[in-house]
Amino acid sequence: MHPVVLTAQPASIDLGGPVVETWAYGEAVPGPLVRLPAGDRLVATVTNALPDPTSVHWHGIALRNDMDGVPGLTQKAIAAGRSMKYEFTAPDPGTYMFHSHVGTQLDRGLYAPLIVDDPAEPLVYDAEHVVVLDDWLDGTGRTPDSVLKELQAGGMDMGGMDMDGMSAGGDSPLSPLLGGDAGDVQYPYYLINGRVATAPNTVTFTPGTRLRLRIINVGSDTAFRVALGGHRLSVVHSDGFPVRPVDTDAVLIGMGERIDVLVTLADGAFPLIALAEGKNASGLEVIRTGSGAAPTADTYPRELAGQVTGALMLEAADDAFLAERRPDRTHDLVLGGSMSDYQWTINDRVYSDRKDLQVRPGEVVRLKMTNSTMMFHPMHLHGHTFQVRSATGRGPRKDTVMVLPGETITADLVADNPGQWLVHCHNVYHGEAGMMTALAYIK
Ligand code: C2O
Ligand code: CU
Repeated sequence: MHPVVLTAQPASIDLGGPVVETWAYGEAVPGPLVRLPAGDRLVATVTNALPDPTSVHWHGIALRNDMDGVPGLTQKAIAAGRSMKYEFTAPDPGTYMFHSHVGTQLDRGLYAPLIVDDPAEPLVYDAEHVVVLDDWLDGTGRTPDSVLKELQAGGMDMGGMDMDGMSAGGDSPLSPLLGGDAGDVQYPYYLINGRVATAPNTVTFTPGTRLRLRIINVGSDTAFRVALGGHRLSVVHSDGFPVRPVDTDAVLIGMGERIDVLVTLADGAFPLIALAEGKNASGLEVIRTGSGAAPTADTYPRELAGQVTGALMLEAADDAFLAERRPDRTHDLVLGGSMSDYQWTINDRVYSDRKDLQVRPGEVVRLKMTNSTMMFHPMHLHGHTFQVRSATGRGPRKDTVMVLPGETITADLVADNPGQWLVHCHNVYHGEAGMMTALAYIK
């Protein structure tokens, strides 16, 4: 049994210069790391000290449905002043996160990393470090709720964003990766582990350390291109599940995704940089193993312009791979949007008007997600991990997959966890503006 006590509360947070009034788990952003061995039972007592209702969603965990934290689908929201106990077993090791699942609360500070350890961890490394990426605006004169209103009113953020290729900058060697718009919202800050790039955290190790980085994108509207200056990365996990290792200069990570990499540290002070893809700004952390000047906010390691690996280039490791079986049913999800009224849709419907994606226990279910819009959508399924079928039939196991404009992603799952499960875009503004539906088990 692994007890955890969390309080969702208003908090005044120093981001490394800017001090913001926000909502957080306790007095820190990110909230406290929760870590337990696979198969162990998490018992989390959550107290709501916010003025609004809240909930906690355990993102990526194949848990029992009534603990999934989705008000209106799996529970009643925790009212202001009330508490709730979440209690479940975490079956699969890996890198996860938890966050509020009410309204736009994810774009405040209501998030934290969640790590499920493998008692028989097959990877060999000396140390690890959790890297939480976020786009930040709460308490800077705007709140996520005010931003959503602006978007719905066709306000300043809409249409103001560059296409991801153009905004890479005049002399930038970067090639666009998102195939269209990079986002709907302009953020003043991009954070690594709660710090702005002008006042980064420094983490220290000894030279030669084999380091596991667990990279988590909790952003609401931003994909990040992540690199460690002077190093190559070996990608080993995607969304908690092992992949066949791939060496790369940088990784691309959408909202809701997690990528684990191994890296052997050189001697010096190195920038861990998270470029806000297509937004011409970045987050920074310093990894130090020796002397040397600390990299600054404007640092630009050449790895950013090197080989970038996105999750779709990965292949599940043998023990994570779901071999192809003929699906018992296929659900098509056409991702759409209408910009005039800021509605984002699945099969032309918003969430309140949704048609559930019905499945029966034991079925092999294929989801075919087609993006008919000009912006990427990181599509997340609760309670399951699907097998992405790339051209070779073997992609990564994932719970969140970026679908680029014009692209169709095929993802297979085994319906082995009965309940009502949300399927949605992890852009919190898209989700709130309708791009959510439910995978519904029927008898
Ligand atoms: Cu992290 Cu429904 O999402
Ligand atoms: Cu979206």
